Amino acid sequence: MIWMLALVACGVLAMLSIGAYTLRTGISPMPTTPRVRRVLLNALPARLEGAVYELGAGWGTLAFPLARRYPGCPVLAYELSPLPWLWCRLRQALARAPNLALRRKDFHRAHLGDAALVVCYLYPEGMERLRPKLEAELPIGALVVSNTFAVPGWSPVAVHRVGDLWASRIYVYQANRRRSQPAPEAG
Ligand SMILES: C[S@@+](CC[C@H](N)C(=O)[O-])C[C@H]1O[C@@H](n2cnc3c(N)ncnc32)[C@H](O)[C@@H]1O
Repeated sequence: MIWMLALVACGVLAMLSIGAYTLRTGISPMPTTPRVRRVLLNALPARLEGAVYELGAGWGTLAFPLARRYPGCPVLAYELSPLPWLWCRLRQALARAPNLALRRKDFHRAHLGDAALVVCYLYPEGMERLRPKLEAELPIGALVVSNTFAVPGWSPVAVHRVGDLWASRIYVYQANRRRSQPAPEAG
């Protein structure tokens, strides 16, 4: 009986924690779906020179595949919500991802000056808030890949349609090429 109560209390605390951080960050730790992840990973170049940033890592749905894809690059995954972050840390203890650093920190406090790639799945206001940071900090040529939400005012170099129920899109941008003509839609 006492175990049952403890279990229920843990569940309630977990939900409260996730709810509180959803209110704080503006977005729940909803993971990228397997189909979107496949399209997103296919949209990435085979090789990169520089660091990979994941802004809001959630449960690690993209952070771990990114670390495997680019074993020679540091992958810096930021997540504020304690439970998803803890889950990622547990995953890391089991997975071999020596190049992955999981930081429980607001990504607005990270400096993106060495980025070769920034990956995110946020929400419209979050993208609006992120834009000046990307414009101020990203080196020329760095890629920004966003699940579903465009960077307002930027022109993508490619847009990949996932073909799922939600008509999800993957937006690919290149720093300092953002004022180029909109790219034709792929796939
Ligand atoms: C929709 S989820 C995406 C998770 C993961 N990137 C994926 O695609 O599966 C967005 C995540 O971003 C996190 N987040 C939002 N704003 C953040 C911030 N300023 N700093 C760190 N994490 C943030 C949220 O807590 C949430 O877990």
